[in-house]
Amino acid sequence: MARHDSRIWPECTKMIGLLCLVSSILLQHGASGQRVKVDQEVTSYPGQTVNLRCAFADPTGVQLSMVTWMYVPEPTQEPVNIAVFLPGNEPSYPSSPVKGRVSFVPSPPKVDSPSIQITDVRMTDEGKYACEFATYPGGNVRGTTQLVMLAKPENSASPVTVVAGTKPVTVASCKSANGQPAAEISWVTTANGNYTTKQQPGTDNTLTVISEYIMVPTPNDNGKEITCVVSHRTLVKPESFRMNLAVQFAPQVTIEGYDNNWYIGRTNVELTCKANANPPPVTVQWKSMTGEIPPTVELVENVLKVQKVDESVNTTFVCEVNNKIGTTKEQFGILVRETRLPERGPTTGIIIGAIVGVIILIAIIGTVIALYRKRKAKVLGDRPPKHKPPPPKKTFNSTNSASMLLNSSNAPVVQNDSYRYSTQTPEPVTDLDNYQDEDGDHDIGGSDNRMHYVSGAPSGWDDPGNNEVPPPYLHVDVDYQDYHPVPNIGRGESFVSSAMIV
Ligand SMILES: *[C@@H]1O[C@H](CO)[C@@H](O)[C@H](O)[C@H]1NC(C)=O
Ligand SMILES: *[C@@H]1O[C@H](CO)[C@@H](O)[C@H](O)[C@H]1NC(C)=O
Repeated sequence: MARHDSRIWPECTKMIGLLCLVSSILLQHGASGQRVKVDQEVTSYPGQTVNLRCAFADPTGVQLSMVTWMYVPEPTQEPVNIAVFLPGNEPSYPSSPVKGRVSFVPSPPKVDSPSIQITDVRMTDEGKYACEFATYPGGNVRGTTQLVMLAKPENSASPVTVVAGTKPVTVASCKSANGQPAAEISWVTTANGNYTTKQQPGTDNTLTVISEYIMVPTPNDNGKEITCVVSHRTLVKPESFRMNLAVQFAPQVTIEGYDNNWYIGRTNVELTCKANANPPPVTVQWKSMTGEIPPTVELVENVLKVQKVDESVNTTFVCEVNNKIGTTKEQFGILVRETRLPERGPTTGIIIGAIVGVIILIAIIGTVIALYRKRKAKVLGDRPPKHKPPPPKKTFNSTNSASMLLNSSNAPVVQNDSYRYSTQTPEPVTDLDNYQDEDGDHDIGGSDNRMHYVSGAPSGWDDPGNNEVPPPYLHVDVDYQDYHPVPNIGRGESFVSSAMIV
């Protein structure tokens, strides 16, 4: 048995691993009560070689006189002998549908494990195969294997171009041709329809499945996505076909550009004729209800341009768009006024514009002041080295710190520093460096802060690894500023700084 397994498994995996696995499990369990061990089911594709295993379990004390393999194409049909082995004789292969393709393996056969193989299997080889032992004293015993022939279907799908209408029509179709067993087809779409699926015989004992998606197509459905999903036993995962619906419809026309204020003497106004159509419009034509296009009107493609409004424009214009499906006319009545309407819109616009302008101006002034202060602060107290300042610079740093603190703009930063520091790892400097990047000058921002941090702490605290810094820090702040250090939003810079850190 073990030897057979190792020989048959690679073949098996080649076909359909999982199914073989299932059938071997069935072999082990389902047939365990019986003496004849066979696979319950074996699957294969046309053209392949199948192995039909058979073994007589525990032959001690039993005489195995002869082995016969039989084929039962349909349950109603008589079994046909396809392979016979009588120990001491050559294997015999009687006339059968598989004659010439069936043989015992190994050859010569072993009477207690007379497996056979069938080469170049055909769809019509599907059916039951029985391995029967003539035994003494028990008589005949048999085990049966179902050979399932699979055929991988050819799947395809295509949208069907339709014309928008009121009756349900097929808008997409999906086909799974020559499969065994029959494929299953389903649809995924947001379009509102139904589908019908039918089966028909394919070539060589297979089945062809055709599914059609049916709906009442509207112009709105044009381009909608629709997916056909084909599931089949031979597919690891369902095969999907994504398509877009193709719905043709006559042009949908709109006329734009009239603002209800065409007055005599107004120059350069125009109407635009917009059309939505599938297929695209072939022609777009402007006409006038009165027949003649006024001389002051110029037609450029779908745009009707009026250089100067006069009474001749006081008419109804018609835009006529046509495509393969149909022609759509849309008309638009122009009312020409003697005098212009007061234009309220623009006045309101000016007021709003003025308000916005003032706000922007204030913002700019604020920013300029803030930048100026910052720069001044730097110029005054801050000529920082490009790298971390050495400890001897402490006095210098203190000055710097003081100036910054006095320039209350940095106060919230200090507070935030200490806060961060208290909650985070003893290396806040790196963090702060990053947060100060917005300055546009990484180096200065960074060292600025670092100095601040180092120098702000009186002696004993300038160890960056000291986690007990926060309370004294806060204290220093309060002392210097004489008020509780809430972030001072009144100062541009401080506001920006805290925002950056938070
Ligand atoms: C879908 O099919 C069912 C019956 O199969 C029918 O009652 C229903 O009206 C159909 N819906 C559409 C949108 O065609
Ligand atoms: C345009 O025609 C309307 C009537 O259709 C008329 O009331 C209006 O006075 C006309 N405008 C001019 C400028 O003639």
